[in-house]
Amino acid sequence: MKDAAAAQTGQTIYLSDYTPPGWLVEDVSLTFRLAPDATRVLSRIRFAPNPEGTQDRFFLHGEKLKLISAAIDGTPVTPDITPEGLSCAVPEGAFTWEAEVEIAPAQNFALEGLYMSNGMYCTQCEAEGFRKITYYPDRPDVMATFHVRIESDLPVMLSNGNPIASGEGWAEWHDPWPKPSYLFALVAGELVNHPDTFTTMSGRAVELNIWVRPGDEGKCAFGMEALKKSMKWDEEVYGREYDLDLFNIVAVDDFNMGAMENKGLNIFNSSCVLASPETSTDANFERIEAIIAHEYFHNWTGDRITCRDWFQLCLKEGLTVFRDASFTADMRSEPVKRISDVITLRARQFREDNGPLAHPVRPESFQEINNFYTATVYEKGAEVIGMLKLLVGDEAYFKALDLYFTRHDGQACTIEDWLKVFEDATGRDLTQFKRWYSQAGTPRLHVTESWDNGTFTLHFRQETPPTPGQPSKQPQVLPIAVGLLGPNGDEVLPTTLLEMTEAEQSFSFEGLGARPVPSILRGFSAPVILHRETDNAERAFLLAHDTDPYNRWEAGRSLAKNALLRMIAEGMAPDAAYLDALKTLLEDETLDPAFRALAMALPSEDDLALTLFEGGTTPDPQRIWEKREEMREAMARHMPDLLARLYAAHQVTGPYSPEAGPAADRALSNAALALLTRLDGGERARAQYAGADNMTQQLAALSCLLSIDAGAQELQSFYEQWQHDRLVIDKWFSLQVGLARPEDAAATAERLAAHPDFTMKNPNRFRATFGALAMSPAGFHHASGKGYALLADWLKKLDPLNPQTTARMCTAFETWKRYDSDRQAMIREALEGILAQDGLSRDTSEMVSRILN
Ligand code: PHE
Ligand code: ZN
Repeated sequence: MKDAAAAQTGQTIYLSDYTPPGWLVEDVSLTFRLAPDATRVLSRIRFAPNPEGTQDRFFLHGEKLKLISAAIDGTPVTPDITPEGLSCAVPEGAFTWEAEVEIAPAQNFALEGLYMSNGMYCTQCEAEGFRKITYYPDRPDVMATFHVRIESDLPVMLSNGNPIASGEGWAEWHDPWPKPSYLFALVAGELVNHPDTFTTMSGRAVELNIWVRPGDEGKCAFGMEALKKSMKWDEEVYGREYDLDLFNIVAVDDFNMGAMENKGLNIFNSSCVLASPETSTDANFERIEAIIAHEYFHNWTGDRITCRDWFQLCLKEGLTVFRDASFTADMRSEPVKRISDVITLRARQFREDNGPLAHPVRPESFQEINNFYTATVYEKGAEVIGMLKLLVGDEAYFKALDLYFTRHDGQACTIEDWLKVFEDATGRDLTQFKRWYSQAGTPRLHVTESWDNGTFTLHFRQETPPTPGQPSKQPQVLPIAVGLLGPNGDEVLPTTLLEMTEAEQSFSFEGLGARPVPSILRGFSAPVILHRETDNAERAFLLAHDTDPYNRWEAGRSLAKNALLRMIAEGMAPDAAYLDALKTLLEDETLDPAFRALAMALPSEDDLALTLFEGGTTPDPQRIWEKREEMREAMARHMPDLLARLYAAHQVTGPYSPEAGPAADRALSNAALALLTRLDGGERARAQYAGADNMTQQLAALSCLLSIDAGAQELQSFYEQWQHDRLVIDKWFSLQVGLARPEDAAATAERLAAHPDFTMKNPNRFRATFGALAMSPAGFHHASGKGYALLADWLKKLDPLNPQTTARMCTAFETWKRYDSDRQAMIREALEGILAQDGLSRDTSEMVSRILN
């Protein structure tokens, strides 16, 4: 049988097994002699025994390295080498390790370690990629200063920190800040830069650069502005100043994730930094701004203070996501950002938390850490910080953060360290709050009310369903923001924070003149699923009167959801009360157009499927898709004149600007266009397509046309216009799959995979094709089973090249237990087929095994 695969699996690593490193590194010098098939890496590492560790066995991580030579204090040594690394006898006390290894970046398609992308060398070391570059204690609690020499005939050679010397064919860099190996980076290539400067709050000038391939210079200006805004915001809001004289960003086409926060040398997936009005949508601009901010904010929350071990990943990621969300809220609209984040949280994190891959924000075990860069660690991790801030208040939050930065600067920390600064700064006991980090699963919050002679009482009950390895749960601390509205719509109790700690708990409000309508979980103050018996009249009342914009949106969403569920389960017609309420809201010109655009979006197919499943009904993806289509049709027919007015009134003319204001107008007009297209046969969309001078308008128009099967010509001309631009062609791939009718989705993906522009080696292109299939529930789960078989086939092909992206895309199958037995059988077969593949990666085998269990 498959020995390689067997050897790769079953090695589980536990948080409880943590031991401090036996040796610490004082200083590292690396020399890279770059060559595509035989790069030589020379290392000189100063080791010293760690007084807090034990010196029983000297071990250095190293994978797929060819050892050329090794020496200790100048004397050659012959270490014991395994596929995971080497061990060796070492002197007592401090010593110098020197080694030379050979690697082949041009053969590295996993995009981890040192690899090549369009002739450019670049690295990706988080989480455990440095061990593919040289032998090293590749764990985040070993922090050292790095000196790097790069030798190549390429014009641009970059590493972390500051440039110290360079000459013909070489460059040297020094990073004065001690860092773990996962933050190491190197880039070399024929690159051009977009330069700028930033003066910090203490008056230091910092040189900024965005490095790109020639031809992409025109797509850097927006990212640069976002970087400067981020630097300023972190100074103003968190008091954090940048700490080097230089900050470099590099755009790379082949990248597994969004971007990486390497110290002083952030590396970005080009889709997450390059932007221009002609090639990027409003959504792209907003995302780029957020990711630039995210990576920049890591300089303090991640780089200066890092994680002790990978179980603590949420320490840097949850906090940094929380920080970038606050930044976006400040730069744009706070309620719109909150609503969008909740939509994503429900779509991705609730899905994960309610299936076989559910895990705590701080997992307790893993086989492959790359599989834990999840919505739970990132997004739920950020929600946990948001709850903490709500509970202690803004002032105490920033006091605790100041303490965190002073107490732990330069350290590799744990969640215990993080919570302790809050306990010390506020005097609060956070023992129970800590369950948010250890218990997986989405809490259900059930609410009932009673009214007695001027006293209104809310009765809450919380319960978290079992998740893998956690059959029973303890009550968690839930911050529940509530307000009360009087019968005439006036607010009789402004937002008040209730702190629920018990499994069941009631809160009373006295001295009220009439029975109020409660507005519960304002701002989505806790990541829970709220269960409350209510009716459409009350939902419509909240939609009209709630002072909390988030809950106003939520009232509209629950009207829509309820109507859709009844259409699906009972064959009801689209609910007129919902359509009327939506119309009233859309007519309200005092409301932010972005908010109105969000109010027009229906709950996702996946969200509906989860709710049906929870209620004991087996969801039928095809029927869910059809009923959403029917609802859209009804929306269009219910308010054609209003839609036409909104479409015309919010079309932005004049030069394109990616700012929140015009973007909001475009969002509303394009949402109106999507509905109008169902009535006018695509007339308006065709005109918009023809006249568009920016990607937002062009792509929206093309989507509208494809959704009514009327865009063949535009699709072709779009390809011809943009075939030179990889990022735009990604959109061309994903749009066709995403907008195909359910019965055609798999066939479309299959056809596009045969297109000359398709390549498995570029993760963006692979995701544009097969990620789009996985994200179209009705297409992916089509009763023919073709979607399952096709995806499984391609994942089997991708795994030998790129395990990380393969494993991540296996999450397409994570909802399988919700569906009928025919679908389950087909999915099981697909998953077992993947698992049976010879030499399957540890990444994919862990993922598929967890999904199957
Ligand atoms: N640390 C990166 C971020 O969140 C994500 C990442 C993880 C990138 C692993 C590459 C590899 O900003
Ligand atoms: Zn991050």
